[in-house]
Amino acid sequence: MSGGSDALDWIASAGSPLRGTLDIPGDKSVSHRSVMFAALADGVSTIEGFLEGEDTRATAAIFARLGVRIETPSPSRRIVHGVGIDGLRAADGVLDCGNAGTGMRLLAGLLAAQRFDSVLVGDASLSRRPMRRVTAPLAKMGARIDTEAGGLPPLRIHGGQALVGIDHTLEVASAQVKSALLLAGLYADGETIVREPHPTRDYTERMLSAFGVDIEFSPGFARLRGGQRLRATDIAVPADFSSAAFFLVAAGIVPGSELRLKQVGLNPRRTGLLQALRMMGADIVEDNGGVHGGEPVADLVVRYAPLRGIEVPETLVPDMIDEFPALFIAAAHASGPTVVRGAAELRVKESDRLAAMANGLRGLGLQVDETPDGATIHPGTLQGGVVDSLGDHRIAMAFAVGAQRALGEVRIGDVANVATSFPGFDALARGVGCSLSDA
Ligand code: S3P
Repeated sequence: MSGGSDALDWIASAGSPLRGTLDIPGDKSVSHRSVMFAALADGVSTIEGFLEGEDTRATAAIFARLGVRIETPSPSRRIVHGVGIDGLRAADGVLDCGNAGTGMRLLAGLLAAQRFDSVLVGDASLSRRPMRRVTAPLAKMGARIDTEAGGLPPLRIHGGQALVGIDHTLEVASAQVKSALLLAGLYADGETIVREPHPTRDYTERMLSAFGVDIEFSPGFARLRGGQRLRATDIAVPADFSSAAFFLVAAGIVPGSELRLKQVGLNPRRTGLLQALRMMGADIVEDNGGVHGGEPVADLVVRYAPLRGIEVPETLVPDMIDEFPALFIAAAHASGPTVVRGAAELRVKESDRLAAMANGLRGLGLQVDETPDGATIHPGTLQGGVVDSLGDHRIAMAFAVGAQRALGEVRIGDVANVATSFPGFDALARGVGCSLSDA
């Protein structure tokens, strides 16, 4: 399912200046939610720009197993025949979320509220990721979910529980946990309120509202009443900023480059990297701005410019939580060190991203000082060498970009999971001048 078992390595090295115009695939967070909420709605919803990644396809496949008819008239389109808030039915056997933390955590909230039992499993990476952050507050609502020791997947969800709304303050800033509680809250008696230590992406709130749910939300706060129904609506998925990020950094570090990334989603809870890169001196201009599917979008035109190291403001961390692999590569090519703090969450992503990036850069000749919640990256010239992506899509893509300035060939191991979020990344990268091929 996740592709993680297919051994695939890349060879990457310095190519030519990067030039061209790119269509970046649809946003992963929005794609997951679009299929989930459309499935729960009354009526038929059409999704345009759906991400054809393994993660989001895994979520769609799960809803098909739960009795939802989903048509794929053409790639990146889905027609979802919603079954209504109470229309899901038990699946035979376990539900495989693949590599997707978003899939598993949101489904935990939704399935805890159903009349039937479910079991959620994931691939090796997802099976190491913490789930207590979601099962503990769901238990406060009356949910019954068994985990493996240490709060790890699989999640054995016992349906048929009467849930009650809670007023909950998250311990870690997590849109996934917030969303799980809001989904359970749709079925709970009374109100569910989620408060966040720092605002996280608000796609669940925006999209539930688009599906007709009465939900009150502002940065760091969301409140809804249980017992509401969703009304089918059409969803347009913007291009994924997190995928665009690799090309922002690629063009930003290779002299002579200029890329136009078309109509990228610029939700302010996602664009921390844009601010960080601009602080570093990057030349990134927004053009043709507009609104797509209720989200701000614009073309991003990025030209090479010399970068300088910065102290990444801790307040930016949640808004660039998925972009640190890319940021590390930018930092490696800056003048002066870059300091990251307050980013311990990176240790529980698809891999321990602080360790993966620090080890990878060290293997290519740089000095990186790791701390429990961050790192200091000392820039330098990347040598050739071997990097282990640890099966983490974003680590693999980050080093594919970094290698475009390396002195020698870089072999990047275990890259098949790039297909979880960005199928076709390597072909797009080659199309604009990157040197990148299967080993
Ligand atoms: C996501 C939220 C983030 C992010 C992940 C997608 C989402 O995780 O890292 O890639 O779609 O809600 P957390 O909410 O756990 O920080």
